Amino acid sequence: MYNEDHIQESVRNDMKTRGSFITFEGIDGSGKSTQLSGIANYLEKQGKEVLKLREPGGTSIGEQIRAILLSRGNMAMSIETELMLFAAARAQLVREVIEPALANGVWVLCDRFMDSTTAYQGYGRQIDLQLIGRLNAIAVGRCKPDLTLLFDLSVEAASTRLAARSDKSDRLDLESKAFAERTRNGYHELAKAEPNRFRVIDAERSVEDIEQQIENILREGTGI
Ligand code: ADP
Ligand code: TYD
Repeated sequence: MYNEDHIQESVRNDMKTRGSFITFEGIDGSGKSTQLSGIANYLEKQGKEVLKLREPGGTSIGEQIRAILLSRGNMAMSIETELMLFAAARAQLVREVIEPALANGVWVLCDRFMDSTTAYQGYGRQIDLQLIGRLNAIAVGRCKPDLTLLFDLSVEAASTRLAARSDKSDRLDLESKAFAERTRNGYHELAKAEPNRFRVIDAERSVEDIEQQIENILREGTGI
């Protein structure tokens, strides 16, 4: 039985403004994770409740799938298996975490989302793009990002940054330069196809400049 307080609480929840869903995309080493942290701090200072997520992962099931995807013990993984594991982790994240958070007025910042699958598995691995579109649709349902920030950086610059950063590489870090070029090009195609959702960031610039640019984009779009 619902008591009066419970009803009041659910009415308040119904009236809550839905949160915004912002995704951070780009090739590995383009600076997404760095900016996601900075922007989360900025939004929190503006009084927003913020949830930071990364893909694949973000749920118990998703983190288990992530471990399978990244393990260097799984070099035999077929590209079809890989595709469906990314989609499976995403389907779980959307239903278990993202949708409920947005409904509760929380701002959700996600390091990679459906566009990573189109760019990496579609353009990078060259799996049929229509098939990927259908799989993405199953995984995300109506939960598409309100805004996608694309960190655009040359493959050379990104690999220089990664070489400086890491002492170990996972299965997916071992891809070729040609793969990274195709992936970057795929992101360009996606941004061209959906100019209202995408904002392309020149990721060669300094951390501070980029953060300023993103704050401006957020102010223009949402007035915060
Ligand atoms: P991603 O999440 O896209 O893989 P990271 O945010 O982890 O990228 O950044 C990769 C590396 O580059 C890190 O060592 C980070 O400190 C560095 N880095 C991030 N942004 C910049 C920038 N604008 N200029 C120079 N180096 C950067
Ligand atoms: P991660 O360590 O999160 O990458 P990053 O360098 O961006 O911090 O590893 C995720 C890897 O998985 C990265 O190489 C991109 C790849 N990926 C896909 O190929 N398809 C996908 O759908 C997603 C979400 C990631």
